[in-house]
Amino acid sequence: MVLNSVQLLENPSGALVIPELDAVMVQPCYFSLVIPTFNESRNIGAMLQRLVALLDEAYADRYEIIVVDDDSPDRTWEVALGAAEQLPRVRVIRRQTERGLATAVIRGWQAAGGEVIGVIDGDLQHPPEVLLQLLGEIDAGADFVIASRHVEGGGISEWGFVRRLLSRGAQLLGLVIAPTVVGRVSDPMSGYFMLRRRALAGVELNPKGYKISLEALGRGRIDRIAEVGYVFQERQAGESKVTARQYVDYIHHLLKLRSRGRVSRMRNQIPFPIGRFLRFGFVGLSGVVVDMAVLYLLHSAASPLGLAWGLTRSKIIASEVAILNNFCWNDRWTFKDLAGQQKSVGQWVKRFVKFNLICLLGLTLNVLILNLLFNLFGINAYVANLLAIVIVTFWNFWINLKLNWRVTSSK
Ligand code: GDD
Ligand code: MN
Repeated sequence: MVLNSVQLLENPSGALVIPELDAVMVQPCYFSLVIPTFNESRNIGAMLQRLVALLDEAYADRYEIIVVDDDSPDRTWEVALGAAEQLPRVRVIRRQTERGLATAVIRGWQAAGGEVIGVIDGDLQHPPEVLLQLLGEIDAGADFVIASRHVEGGGISEWGFVRRLLSRGAQLLGLVIAPTVVGRVSDPMSGYFMLRRRALAGVELNPKGYKISLEALGRGRIDRIAEVGYVFQERQAGESKVTARQYVDYIHHLLKLRSRGRVSRMRNQIPFPIGRFLRFGFVGLSGVVVDMAVLYLLHSAASPLGLAWGLTRSKIIASEVAILNNFCWNDRWTFKDLAGQQKSVGQWVKRFVKFNLICLLGLTLNVLILNLLFNLFGINAYVANLLAIVIVTFWNFWINLKLNWRVTSSK
């Protein structure tokens, strides 16, 4: 049994509400960083050393680190407490009656004295050095700043195809269920961010599962958002706690935030970009003309080319030429201002590939909706097709705006 002179912090209880700065019971400071941990005994020591070395230099005694451990079987809390002996800015909470990443972070923020509150994972997959850039954005006036894998300088070191697909799929689902929350940042799945305490103080929080960033974006008083690119690192020790359960919790959380969506939209003034949508629709119409023209040129024996190719082959080429047409016009016209901020050829190619993927997903959705309306609701085939085209045009527009031609407004 290890005897520590440093005591565990009391675990806050009751409603998940972060107190205003002038109501905190602890010594106020500038920045409080919370580390949620579960079975990170082999990571937490190195993590704390690296953080303290970095923050001591940049913020001297104006910061604190709070480890919130859910009574890990590998006694992570004890290892953290041992480290705290040497690191006076580190404090530890051991939760024995509650469990879950998002609520652990909120409990940590409730116990914190910081004007700025943040969260970082305890397994070194979020590089501590990025903290200084995040704090720099807060100092520059942002209310909320998130470390993103999907902006310039961002990426994922080694994630299998399935995990990438699941992560992007989750984002896509979020853009459909709670667009005004999930669509506010390029990497809503990121667990590495910070915000001004005043943006969340006094708000009753009620997250589910992992996504504390969505809870803040959906319920917080957040106007100015900034993003910083970072590369998600490979885990050195231990394993991820993400299971299918987290995906179920995520959907449940989205539905809860959606019901508040209307309130947060009003609060966060996110007008629907009607002008840009009309341009997108117009370009879509030009694509139909291109599609028809190319189909005629390739398939009709009477066409000047006289190729008379098979219908399927001609249709596939016609669709791809139409997609290329739509992409170029959208890049040069509809999203000109956004494309202008991502000028490299690599970024252009990435946008074109994403545009293709989103259009192909749209096509699948189109066939699904058409069949649903025709077979299930008995709607006339042509009316059903028209409705499907309208719905998918909205889909293509919104997903391309949020996942493809995206730059974070405040940046
Ligand atoms: N207190 C507490 N309670 N901590 C937890 C719990 C819990 O129930 N579950 C996980 N943690 C801690 C882990 O110990 C780790 O420090 C951090 O939360 C992240 O958990 P991981 O299990 O390592 O998540 P991941 O690496 O698969 O996913 C992370 O990165 C993704 C990409 O940014 C998470 O941050 C995801 O939210 C994020 O999407
Ligand atoms: Mn991790």
